[in-house]
This record gives sequence, structure tokens and C-alpha cells, in this order.
Amino acid sequence: MMTLPHWESPPDDLGAAIREVKTALRARIASSGRTVDEVFTVVEGRIDAAVEQVEAAKARGEEVWPVIRYDDIAAGTVSSEQFDLVRRRGCLVVRGHFEREQALGWDRDIVRYVEGNRFFENYRGPGDDFFGSVGSKPEIYPIYWSPAQMQARQSERMAAVQAFLNSQWKHESGGTTWFDPQRDSLYPDRIRRRPEGADSGGLGTHLDPGTLDLWLTSAYQKAFRHLFDGSVEQYDPWDPAYRTAGPQYPGSTMCSAFRTFQGWTALSDMDHDQGVLHTVPIPEAMAYLMLRPLLSDVPDDDMCGVTVNQVFPANEKWHPLLMRALTGIPDVKAGDSVWWHADMIHSVAPVTNQRGWGNVMYIPAAPWCPRNERYAAEVREAFRTGSSPSDFPEEHYERDWADRFQPADLNETGRHGLGLS
Ligand SMILES: [Fe+2]
Repeated sequence: MMTLPHWESPPDDLGAAIREVKTALRARIASSGRTVDEVFTVVEGRIDAAVEQVEAAKARGEEVWPVIRYDDIAAGTVSSEQFDLVRRRGCLVVRGHFEREQALGWDRDIVRYVEGNRFFENYRGPGDDFFGSVGSKPEIYPIYWSPAQMQARQSERMAAVQAFLNSQWKHESGGTTWFDPQRDSLYPDRIRRRPEGADSGGLGTHLDPGTLDLWLTSAYQKAFRHLFDGSVEQYDPWDPAYRTAGPQYPGSTMCSAFRTFQGWTALSDMDHDQGVLHTVPIPEAMAYLMLRPLLSDVPDDDMCGVTVNQVFPANEKWHPLLMRALTGIPDVKAGDSVWWHADMIHSVAPVTNQRGWGNVMYIPAAPWCPRNERYAAEVREAFRTGSSPSDFPEEHYERDWADRFQPADLNETGRHGLGLS
């Protein structure tokens, strides 16, 4: 099979590279004996059926998001029906992941930590334009090393849930072990505290796994090989092959780590209509998103609006079928956690005059693999110096905060996650 043109760093002329790769991808698909339109019709049929299932579940008044009790994950008593639903929907709520009092205590600890270190007096404004801010106080705190966050990241309960989530993916295929589902890499991320009464515009529908690199780099061309060689029926959104070693284009939106699931842990109660997370709960939708730009109604130098340095947009213009399935989380309580397949479309609904707080710690599932091992070296350095991790804006608020989490407080899981043992 002919090799595809590829760019291991962002091409200077994006339009020219897009034109070139589209021509090559269309030719490769055509060499399977089916046209791009025929292959896309197969994908569309499958996604259409999944969208109709979601719509039918809503019409019946059922919860679209699977809700699984932490106690069932810990005891290994998750039913096969629940497993099936997680695989089908690609998202879940873990009910009672942490004791409510533990989560509320962490929320208070974070407030003490940032106030005690005069964070609000020193706050210089958002380091990136991803999220707006509320009044003079930020909504997203660029704080990474509070004792509360690290205690959650290295907790036995977090490790158990991450192992459960990582295991939804096929960690071995074609004779290669792509990652270790039992060991997570403790990916440090920020916190969000959105106060009572807040107005927030939310975040539009987008996805996080990459941008043009998903079509243009050799590793992703291999990862999405079944979409690009006409064997689309074999595409498996739970197969991590070729995704756990390769590079990603640099930029303010990059995530250096391979994540099986994105996630956050609730530190306050949040009702379903208070500006919460939504997803398009269909992991296979990635096939639609990757093939849609190859159809003839999209300009030759355009990937349905995907470009470098901005999140991958999903929208009514190019993906109206997918948008029909957008579904919010149910009510969550402090201590519950929320997870979604790392390739899935998600958004945050707008809210005005929010009832109650909306507080979360972002903690994903990012299993140990060559890519995450490489990033762990950056994380260790950021941890040692109290710096912002290299995937995030260089804000470094915590460098001289004496009460940040200390190396002596690491347990076995924490040391493993950072690659220290
Ligand atoms: Fe996102």
C-alpha cells in the first residue's frame, strides 16, 4: 500500500498540506474498491443508529449517561449490562467515588490553600483564552500542586477507577502491549471553582485528542488506518494502537499525554441544569469526524474548520447528525466523578445566576505508556519546583507556596505515577 504524505511537525503551509493529504487519503480509500462516499455512508448509517438509540432513551425518560457505583467498581461487581453501556456510550458517572465529606473537605482545603497564599491578590488574569473568568476572580484556577489535588490523584480510590477505565480499552493488540492499565501517570491539571450566582457562557462543542496532527502525522494515520484504507467496519474506538508513543503538534491546546478518559471529580453538588458538561455519547463518532472533511462539499484546503493551536470544533454546519445526540450529565454530588472517552465531543452548557457552586478537580485516566512516561519527566520537574506543567500556560503561581504537596507525602501510587519508583 502506498505511503501517505505526513508532517511530523506543523507544516508551514497548512492549506497545501491539507490538499495533499486529502488527495492521498481519497486515493488510498479508492484503492480498497469503495469510494469515499460509500465508506462515509457506512459510517453515517452506524452513527445514525446510535443517535437514534440516544434519542429513544431520552424519550423513554432514561438516563443516557451510565451511572456506576464506586463500590461496584471496587468489589468487581459491575454488571455486564453496565459494562456494555459504558462501551456503547463512552462516558459514565462514578457515584460515591469519594465520600462526600472527603470531597467537601478538599474543596475547603483548596480555598485555604489559595487564600493563604494570596492567590487572588496576585492573580494576573487568564493565561490562555480557553475559559472566561467570572468578575475579578478566575473560574479556572491554574493550581496544580495543592495537597487536596495530590491526595486525590494518588488515592487508592482514584487508582481503582482509573484501572477500571483504562481496562475498557484494548491495551494489547497485534502482539504489542500499548499501555499498562493498572498504572496511571497522574496527569496534573487545574481546578474549577464557579461561584453561586455566576453567569458563564460555557464552552462550545469540541474535542481534545489533537488537531490537524490527527490526519497529518504518521502515528495517527496508522491509528486511524481502518478509516483511511476502506476497512472502516474494523475501526475500533477502544484500540489504542499507535497512539501511545507518537508526538503531538505543539500549541496551547496540546495534551502531551495519552488519555483513555477525560474526567473530573466533583467538589460540590451540581444539578444537571446548572451549566454542566455535555457529550455526544458515541465513541464511534470519531470515524464520522475524521472522514467528513474528505467529502466533496468541503473546500479542498479545509478540514471542517480544524486547524492548529485551536481546539477541534464540532458543529451544526458539518456535523448536524452528531449534534442531535448531545447529552448532559445527571445531577452529581460532591465526591462523584464524571468521565468521557478522550476522543468524544463535549461542551459545557451556559448558565446564568448559577444555583450553588460548580467546583471540580480535573483528573483524567492516563495510563503508563511510552508517551506518558516521557511527559512524566516534565511533570516531575514541575512537581519538584511547584511550576505549571509544560502542557499549560507558564503561570507558576505555586513556586514559593510553602504548603504545597511535598515529595515526602507521596505514597506508592504517587511515586509510580510520577515515575519515581
Ligand atoms: Fe475539552
